[in-house]
Amino acid sequence: MSDAQQLHADQIAYWNGPGGAHWVAQQAHTDAQLSPITTAVLTAAAAEPGERILDIGCGCGTTTMILAEAVGATGHVTGLDVSAPMLGWARKRGAGRQNLSWVLDDATTHAFAPGAYDLLFSRFGVMFFGNPVAAFANLRTALRPGGRMVFVCWRPFDDNPWMRVPLHAAYAHIPRLPKPGPEDPGPFAFADPERVARILTEAGWSAPTLTPVDVSLDLGAGGGLDRAVEQATNIGAASRALREAPEELRPAAIAAIRAALMPYVRSETVALGGAVWVVEAKPS
Ligand SMILES: C[S@@+](CC[C@H](N)C(=O)[O-])C[C@H]1O[C@@H](n2cnc3c(N)ncnc32)[C@H](O)[C@@H]1O
Repeated sequence: MSDAQQLHADQIAYWNGPGGAHWVAQQAHTDAQLSPITTAVLTAAAAEPGERILDIGCGCGTTTMILAEAVGATGHVTGLDVSAPMLGWARKRGAGRQNLSWVLDDATTHAFAPGAYDLLFSRFGVMFFGNPVAAFANLRTALRPGGRMVFVCWRPFDDNPWMRVPLHAAYAHIPRLPKPGPEDPGPFAFADPERVARILTEAGWSAPTLTPVDVSLDLGAGGGLDRAVEQATNIGAASRALREAPEELRPAAIAAIRAALMPYVRSETVALGGAVWVVEAKPS
């Protein structure tokens, strides 16, 4: 197995293991936290009644269901994800809706019906491919001529205090995670606009447009500091570092995360900055 294949397999294992479990458990909280980003990417996508849409890496299905409302009874939205637990939860949440379907598969290799979709969409579901050029080349086959792709991904780690502040606090007590290589999959794999453009153009897409969007993310989702600490220790970079740390070191790291978030508390919000790219591309 090549390094890229191993990293890809590790991602699939992660999203079917601890990552999937945390995202299912924190779904409502994460959706509330991400709502300004969801609004930005859905606005750019501008889904129309009657459209056929693929939601790539749809996870627990929140954006899939919002898009299904937008396309109405004459349209259709398919949520595709490689995580059985997350897709299982999405299926339950979407039960009874006629214009939705769910596919458990890998976006890199799924045999799409050619030209089946008007829009390929994703909220943070496209940065985890071991071979992103192969994945986006495969996804391109799913889009009709003249169709469009719109997704959102994180800008650099240092521009995202909502991730950086808890992780740096935890690092006073637990070992650092190995730094990912520049071509490795992960949440910040698409932070570099030149890399995104290179991947997409090599995969047969036009040069993409990347629009920076800066948001304030309430880590506690209206539930204050306790909920913010719970979220920071379950979702994002600090959660991964904690999971891999020796158990006896975790309480001090969690206490440090709490202390680091305290200055951001305003009534029931714990708001820190988030920085994303909204990426738009068409087949070349
Ligand atoms: C950060 S989560 C985002 C989930 C969802 N889009 C959301 O915003 O709540 C990343 C998602 O990408 C999915 N994913 C990762 N690699 C994938 C692949 N190769 N094919 C399909 N889905 C994948 C994961 O299982 C996970 O659901």
